[in-house]
Amino acid sequence: MWKPEYSVGVGPIDDQHQRLFQLFGLLMDSIHNGETESTLDRIFVQLRGYVISHFRFEERLMRKAGYATLDEHEGLHDKIRENLCEYRSRFNKARDEESRGAVVDEVVIFMNQWLVEHILGEDKKYAPFMDTPEVHKLAESYYHDEKG
Ligand SMILES: [Fe+2]
Repeated sequence: MWKPEYSVGVGPIDDQHQRLFQLFGLLMDSIHNGETESTLDRIFVQLRGYVISHFRFEERLMRKAGYATLDEHEGLHDKIRENLCEYRSRFNKARDEESRGAVVDEVVIFMNQWLVEHILGEDKKYAPFMDTPEVHKLAESYYHDEKG
């Protein structure tokens, strides 16, 4: 679950982080309810897609803010993107229930860890740099685009 203390002070990013927790919760529920392989894969694809677009948005904002350690942060995102790709291909290659279950377990541990650690440890670091007119403008246009 997302908590108010995870806030980075930028509305769209907090919203996206909340959505990530929601999607992760959905994945957890599906595992718990013993959903089929195709359902798990569908949710996983959705989650991964959301992570990728969230990272893209976050990177754009950090660039706008002129965040000094952007490269380093992008590197961390790359690692997470790579891990998610690898998990998916391992999940699809797994031949039996047991090996699929093992991949799913790893995904759960990984997601659980990075969602909290990355947001609290890394995203929080850029929070003080986000209070600029450019960032506010981009954040506002995000809501306009969302509402269409
Ligand atoms: Fe991040």
